[in-house]
Amino acid sequence: MTIRTVKTTPIEGQKPGTSGLRARTKKFMEPNFLENFVQSIFAGVGGVEGKTLTLGGDGRYFNKRAIQTIMKMAAANGAARIVVGRDGILSTPAASAVIRARKTDGGVILSASHNPGGETGDFGIKYNIPAGGPAPEGITDAIYANTLQISDYRILDAPDVDLSADGESVLGDMVVEVIDPVAIYADLMRSLFDFDAIRDLFASGFRMRFDAMHAVTGPYATAIIEGELGAPKGAVVNAIPLPDFGGGHPDPNPVYAKALMDEMFGADAPDFGAASDGDGDRNMVIGRNCYVTPSDSLAVLAANAHLAPGYAAGLAGVARSMPTSRAADRVAAKLGIGSYETPTGWKFFGTLLDAGKATLCGEESAGTGSNHVREKDGLWAVLLWLNILARRRQSVAEIMSAHWAEYGRDYYSRHDYEGVDKAAAEGLMDHLRNQLASLPGQTVEGMTVTAADDFAYTDPVDGSKASKQGVRVTFGDDARLVFRLSGTGTVGATLRVYMERFEADPAKQSEETQAAIAPVIRAAAALAGIRTRLGRDGPDVMT
Ligand code: G1P
Ligand code: ZN
Repeated sequence: MTIRTVKTTPIEGQKPGTSGLRARTKKFMEPNFLENFVQSIFAGVGGVEGKTLTLGGDGRYFNKRAIQTIMKMAAANGAARIVVGRDGILSTPAASAVIRARKTDGGVILSASHNPGGETGDFGIKYNIPAGGPAPEGITDAIYANTLQISDYRILDAPDVDLSADGESVLGDMVVEVIDPVAIYADLMRSLFDFDAIRDLFASGFRMRFDAMHAVTGPYATAIIEGELGAPKGAVVNAIPLPDFGGGHPDPNPVYAKALMDEMFGADAPDFGAASDGDGDRNMVIGRNCYVTPSDSLAVLAANAHLAPGYAAGLAGVARSMPTSRAADRVAAKLGIGSYETPTGWKFFGTLLDAGKATLCGEESAGTGSNHVREKDGLWAVLLWLNILARRRQSVAEIMSAHWAEYGRDYYSRHDYEGVDKAAAEGLMDHLRNQLASLPGQTVEGMTVTAADDFAYTDPVDGSKASKQGVRVTFGDDARLVFRLSGTGTVGATLRVYMERFEADPAKQSEETQAAIAPVIRAAAALAGIRTRLGRDGPDVMT
């Protein structure tokens, strides 16, 4: 087996976004695109000589090929060992768990998360640090800088490695260790939750539907929910990961998980429904006739986490991304624990988790997680909900109304305008930024602006700074409006408008969400000029 040094030149469009590098699958399959980026990762982390890396992906189209290439490049660059999921599969949270449990020198995760897969879909790659979380900006900047000056990469000329059975083999001087993708993750879940209580819940006739959306969580959910917790066979549907996710859009929200929504709002609905995304880090939870927003889910989990053995000692603090509703802050205030507001993207939670400042974290984009790994974790959130349901023995709807009665309700919705013209979207953001200084004190749609800014963040642990993280317009405790452009898209731009309105009166807490936030929707339209600037009559997605 010989090591080849292959000449290459920089390729445009390799700047990592909110969560690693994402691009069209076809782009990734172009000559040297993947190789350039992988060599740049290796250079950006100071080389991989003698290191052990975790490797796996969500099984989407090109996953297997990319894994073979990465292993051969790691071997050629002197890596000592690769710990890889069987068949190249590892969900994102499982990859984080493996990095931590096996103490590897970081890992490479292949996924474009909730973006559609297949040959005509998206692909992605990211590097996670030894703590298990996504690389912070210092590292992604270094990786990007390397992509701009790369002149060659190293790869081993060798046959493909068989990844279909657990065990060790060698690739050049590097050991390839194929592991069960579920085992380490399942051990971790068993250590956090009261599996006996959940087993009793299922034994009592509790009915659940988990929609894995033909994506990576299928094997995990089947092994844990059906295999260990005793949910009847068939509780987990769409459980086999497919390279194109069955042609679907594996994003667990009411729009893309419509079949689950219909079932949960239909006749004879199960007690509890859940779904997860392409790589298993996002989640959606629904009770019978009761959709739970991710922002509310974070708040409810924070208020009830002590019911799970792993969190019985209480939480150190709760962190949420800036556009996530303020519901979790209300719980933190009552519990007398820290609450943190970070920029969008899981990488900003890492320092808070490492420093023991936050125990739970969440994002409005269906991401919830804790200090057990350094990624958001879809199945973890579902299991924590099950643990809470098993202990409280109330329906999801009862838990929600009791929560709102105690803390008040933050009605919440996000409106996305997808695939809009980039220049127009940037113009809209500039137009908003130009108004910031004059907004406080103004009344819009009957609500008075108390603060307006472009969110800037200084990490309380390491002092690193992030600016221009989204325009927020705050109407005291009553309402809030946030605008930002997506950092994960691969075509044009996506404008995200996040809206929330607080309601303390229990008698007014069961309105339809869009009606409840109507003044905030109108205020957003007026302040941003969405219709004229983007030429759109309405959003493509409403969560
Ligand atoms: C989106 C979500 C964000 C999440 C990220 C990765 O990023 O908004 O909360 O962390 O996906 O899953 P965006 O496209 O908004 O930059
Ligand atoms: Zn994801």
